[in-house]
Amino acid sequence: MRALVLGSGAREHALVKGLAADPEVDAVIAAPGNPGIDATALCVPTDILDGEAVAALARAHDVDLVVVGPEAPLVAGVADVCRAAGLAVCGPSAAAAALEGSKAFAKEVMAAAGVPTAFAHVCTTMPEVEAALDALGAPYVVKDDGLAAGKGVVVTDSRAEAVQHARACLAKPDGRLVVEEFLDGPEVSLFCLADGRTVVPLQPAQDFKRAADGDEGPNTGGMGAYSPLDWAPTGLVDDVVARVAQPTVDEMRRRGTPFVGILYVGLALTARGPRVVEFNARLGDPDGQAVLARLETPLGQLLLATATGGLADVGPLRWSDDRAVVVVVASAGYPASVRTGDPITGIEEAAEVPGVAVLHAGTRRGSDGTLLSAGGRVLDVVAVGADLAEARRAAYEAVGRIELDGSHHRTDIALAAARGQVVPL
Ligand code: AMP
Ligand code: GLY
Repeated sequence: MRALVLGSGAREHALVKGLAADPEVDAVIAAPGNPGIDATALCVPTDILDGEAVAALARAHDVDLVVVGPEAPLVAGVADVCRAAGLAVCGPSAAAAALEGSKAFAKEVMAAAGVPTAFAHVCTTMPEVEAALDALGAPYVVKDDGLAAGKGVVVTDSRAEAVQHARACLAKPDGRLVVEEFLDGPEVSLFCLADGRTVVPLQPAQDFKRAADGDEGPNTGGMGAYSPLDWAPTGLVDDVVARVAQPTVDEMRRRGTPFVGILYVGLALTARGPRVVEFNARLGDPDGQAVLARLETPLGQLLLATATGGLADVGPLRWSDDRAVVVVVASAGYPASVRTGDPITGIEEAAEVPGVAVLHAGTRRGSDGTLLSAGGRVLDVVAVGADLAEARRAAYEAVGRIELDGSHHRTDIALAAARGQVVPL
């Protein structure tokens, strides 16, 4: 099998590594890829928002499977163009990716499918926003309706801050937002493979979205993750498949827009049970990297089954007994104003720590071949160990070997879980 992976972050680096490790995968091509991916896959510069360009690339390389990493090409309809060209694609159509692309649409589908989620008001004017904020009270949750790279959501006790974010969302063309009930409780990410009909869950992970230790600071795309969740209630995965993922996949099929790809169910485990915080139409980043680090079932065959309606025939997935921890090394200033172009050293030394792999996120090569930072999240240090404490030790030892001027990372990824201090409400 020959696979094409779209994207250029650490999630795509993990996908490429997983695909290349599948004995049935002969070649992996990445578009556009990054300097880390380049060690394993042929990287081809391509505009991945251009479906025709992607389909032409896939044909030129005789690809059997296209795996779409990020949300933007999905929402732009790249999977639709590739499918129309006869390619097998792991990634939903634009219509199905609207579960991520529009929070108002996701709320509507959840209501139709009876999926438990936060009570919400969809607003297009400031008077509606003010009324919704007053009806729901603090803490306020205000979400931009459309894609915002993890920065569209503000959760705050300050009504003024909520109003200010709402104004910014409504100022955009066709501005629309969702004001919703605050959900209390630990957050869980559950990625579910879906072939339009059958749902196969991966193991759950926890993501750390805030920039600073102790869940302080602004929301980011994700600063770290770990998997699995030893503290999660027994039966959580089956429960979420039965009450969330399967009804959602059924509802999308009923509407004639089947979901084929990875449905990311973001949950809060509240005192009243699991509630959906968000859907995404793809694997999480960096939470997906924590999950893939432990998956032993060959990834190419699994994603091909997802793309071709074959999930009913996939047996139980196989997982390593290890625990996985991912720590993100971010640029100076991330997420507010990102400084790029700084040299990165120490990656080889970091990767020598037993159990550690270093994935590239925002990196590029300078004209003399030097590795430089090129984005907000620069590297993911992924570590596996017999327990979370061991995985954390390895991850942080490796992070300590990486030199990137001004970089920052959280020091408390998986700390509470390693200490047994995470408890569902
Ligand atoms: P989203 O873009 O919907 O994933 O939201 C980003 C982050 O904001 C989530 O991971 C949560 O940490 C937080 N968040 C979103 N919705 C809520 C909610 N209803 N209650 C509490 N926190 C939320
Ligand atoms: N880690 C959060 C996301 O991928 O959206």
